[in-house]
Amino acid sequence: MRALFEYRYLSSIIDKAMNRGYVDIVLGLQWGDEGKGRVVHYLSRDYELVVRFQGGANAGHTVYINGEKYVLHLVPTGILHNGVKVAIGPGVVLDPEVLSEEIQFLRGAGIDVDGRLFIDPRTPIVFPFHKREDALFEEKGGIGSTKRGIAPAYRDLYQRFAVRVGDILDESQLDKMVRKQLEFNNIILRHFGERELNVSDVKDWVLSYKNIIEPAILDVSLLIREHVLQGKRVLLEGAQGTLLDIFFGNYPYVTSSHTIAGGALVGAGFGKDVIRRVYGVFKAYVTRVGKGPFPTELKDDTGEEIASKGEEFGATTGRKRRVGWLDIPLLKYAIWISGVTHPVMTKLDVLEGFREVKLAVSYRLDGEFYDMITPASLSLERVEPVYESYGPFEGIKNAESRDAFGEGVKEYIKRIENLIEMPISSISKGKENDLI
Ligand code: IMP
Ligand code: MG
Repeated sequence: MRALFEYRYLSSIIDKAMNRGYVDIVLGLQWGDEGKGRVVHYLSRDYELVVRFQGGANAGHTVYINGEKYVLHLVPTGILHNGVKVAIGPGVVLDPEVLSEEIQFLRGAGIDVDGRLFIDPRTPIVFPFHKREDALFEEKGGIGSTKRGIAPAYRDLYQRFAVRVGDILDESQLDKMVRKQLEFNNIILRHFGERELNVSDVKDWVLSYKNIIEPAILDVSLLIREHVLQGKRVLLEGAQGTLLDIFFGNYPYVTSSHTIAGGALVGAGFGKDVIRRVYGVFKAYVTRVGKGPFPTELKDDTGEEIASKGEEFGATTGRKRRVGWLDIPLLKYAIWISGVTHPVMTKLDVLEGFREVKLAVSYRLDGEFYDMITPASLSLERVEPVYESYGPFEGIKNAESRDAFGEGVKEYIKRIENLIEMPISSISKGKENDLI
């Protein structure tokens, strides 16, 4: 593991020296809300282009700049750095309403968007009826979706009748696709006793966003290629987290996109040879919103205290997040599935002041011990975490370097590095201060 890490580190130095462009990926290693927005904001000053590759407005990326809170759901966080361009790849599902609101919000905050935001023509569009269906299915016993229309929009894509961004440039193509998409969606709406929609209303709705979408349309895969060929750096901004991946997550309690590193290649359009680093972001504890098993969940006062100190409320839905101890068996799996080279720990400061912090180092299941487990495993409902205790947690918030952390914290970090078999490349311990 170390040798591989050293090799990647050396090859990145060579790339820099030869002025080769590259792609780095940032993704979440848990159930989302790991602080990817904050990490992307910190990193993006070193990149020319930041690209979203999956998910949609179900994401909520929070960044604090000079005490101001910025929450973005769709526009990549890189937009908050002047001079950085941002793009939405075809793996994303685009809600034009949210896009338009975010553009207005950014302009209001004095952030220039014109000529800096690109959208791939192949990106499927999320319609209001997708959001309605999402809510209707959720009422019938869903998995705790954000009701942002994500699953119905991807469903229509795979059914091959999605209206995609580029369709709005061609009247007859748009007409054809809206007809196909409505034929199916009206069956669902009828089933739920909802009003059926007509083609011209839906076309008018999407065309009302043409003026903001059209100037941004560009082939994102080729945009990345051009950057790499010119020696520029591209950052891929993941949303949600590994344990919510549609293939490898805790199905069916997952989101409908590929949240792992492979999702970046598929959802933005590039090959493996241009990838330099994979940053995997994880919190010093774990949270989960929505339903599904959570082996290290805390249902006591300690859980409440972490939730309140960590302000663990959904940035998109405002829902209270479930909280638990850091889970190494799942973290090891998440690192494996994405080939993470740079693990980044966030929100360590939230644990400041705790006398005892637990770390799940393995699971016990039917008398056997497991040091790694796939989240897809049905036995995730039955595993018993095996804990070690660390503490007290002191000296975090004011530390200028890791040496200043209290002994309990140092031991906790050392033990995690030892278990995941690689160094933690950065640690965040506050909303705005730099990573250490
Ligand atoms: P959907 O993505 O809205 O379909 O929701 C599917 C599951 O993923 C639900 O459990 C949501 O709570 C969860 N989820 C979706 N987006 C996020 C996110 O950005 N952070 C955390 N959880 C999310
Ligand atoms: Mg979030």
